[in-house]
Amino acid sequence: KRILVLHGPNLNLLGVREPEHYGRDTLENINQRLADKAQNAGIGLDSFQSNIEGELVEKVHTLFQHPADFIIINPAAFTHTSVALRDAIAAVKTPFIEVHLSNVHAREAFRHHSYFSDLALGVVCGLGAAGYEYAVDFAINRIKGQQG
Ligand code: DQA
Repeated sequence: KRILVLHGPNLNLLGVREPEHYGRDTLENINQRLADKAQNAGIGLDSFQSNIEGELVEKVHTLFQHPADFIIINPAAFTHTSVALRDAIAAVKTPFIEVHLSNVHAREAFRHHSYFSDLALGVVCGLGAAGYEYAVDFAINRIKGQQG
C-alpha cells in the first residue's frame, strides 16, 4: 500500500517563500513528517516536487506501471493553469486530495478557480502544513478501511 505526495512549482522554496502565506516549515520537514506518519501506519509514502509541468505529468503516468492507492497533491500555481496535469490525474483514476497551504479563496481572484477540485475527493486549504497531515490521516484511514 502506498501514498504518493505531489508538490508543484515553487514549493521547493517553502520556509523562505512568503512565510505570511506559506509558513516557515521547509518542504523537507513536511515530507519527513508525512513519511513518518505513513510508516507508523505500515503504509509507504513517496514525495515528489517539480517546477516543471511535464515532469509532474510524467510522474503521474508512472502510476500506470507502479500504482498508488492515494495521491495528495498541491499543484501550486498549476492549480489555476494546468489542463495537462488535470488530464493526467483523471487518466490514472487514483483518488486524491487537493491541498493548499494558504486559503486560496481569501486571495486574488485568479486563485479561486482550480482545475482539480471537481475531480478531488476533497480539498484542504488555509490550514498550512497541517493540511497535508490531515490529508495523509484521511488517506491512511481510507486505505485501512478498504483492507477491512
Ligand atoms: C498554493 C496556492 C497557489 O495559488 C500558489 O500558486 C502556490 C501555493 C498553496 O499551497 O497555498 O504556489 O497552492
